[in-house]
Amino acid sequence: MKQTSKATSSTSIRKSAPAKKTTSQKTAAAKKAASTSATNEKGASLLEKFFVDSLKDIYYAEKKLTTAIPKMEEAATTEELKEAFNDHLHQTQKHVKRLEKVFGLIGKKAEGKKCEAIEGIVKEAESIIEETKEGSMTRDAALIIAAQKVEHYEIATYGGLVQLALTMDLDQVADILDTTLMEEEDTDHHLTEIAEAHINMDAEHEGANYSWSTEEDDEDDEEEDDSEESEDE
Ligand SMILES: [Fe+2]
Ligand SMILES: [Fe+2]
Repeated sequence: MKQTSKATSSTSIRKSAPAKKTTSQKTAAAKKAASTSATNEKGASLLEKFFVDSLKDIYYAEKKLTTAIPKMEEAATTEELKEAFNDHLHQTQKHVKRLEKVFGLIGKKAEGKKCEAIEGIVKEAESIIEETKEGSMTRDAALIIAAQKVEHYEIATYGGLVQLALTMDLDQVADILDTTLMEEEDTDHHLTEIAEAHINMDAEHEGANYSWSTEEDDEDDEEEDDSEESEDE
């Protein structure tokens, strides 16, 4: 079974081919906007306000990650995972810049708003580093899961923001956010690949036998070891 599921296709502009609006839809939307009373006291629509708040949330999260990822890179056991973290750190720095461009395009100041979710996910990654043995493959297997929790949070956020941007006719903003969404999805898939290729299997052989293994399992393991040794001879 796959370690992670694919991001929901309904959140991606590439897969669901959303639907940039037709002229008649835009006219209807404009009429509706003119007649609706769904504006806050300052005049911004409720959806716009939510969209800007969400941008501030993910802006805070991306900046937090530029300091969290290096710690995960340093703690990782394998060169492969260190490299994956390092590559994604560089992408994350670009994600921050892209968000600043988005704020500029909608005439808002780039500012973050504390994101409790990312605080929690990063805290969990820090606990994993404290609780796993330095230099072990088990640490890498656990760090991959921690990193994928980050990616899935980002995928959910960017997927939703791309669709909201399209709804509000912010096509250029949607394109920029979608570029980041694709990088988050690629990172998630890459992490799955390296976990399944060998890291999880290598972690399996660390430490004692499983607490649920029976004497029969242990005997089978010994027989397997013996036959592997005789094959080597
Ligand atoms: Fe990101
Ligand atoms: Fe990411």
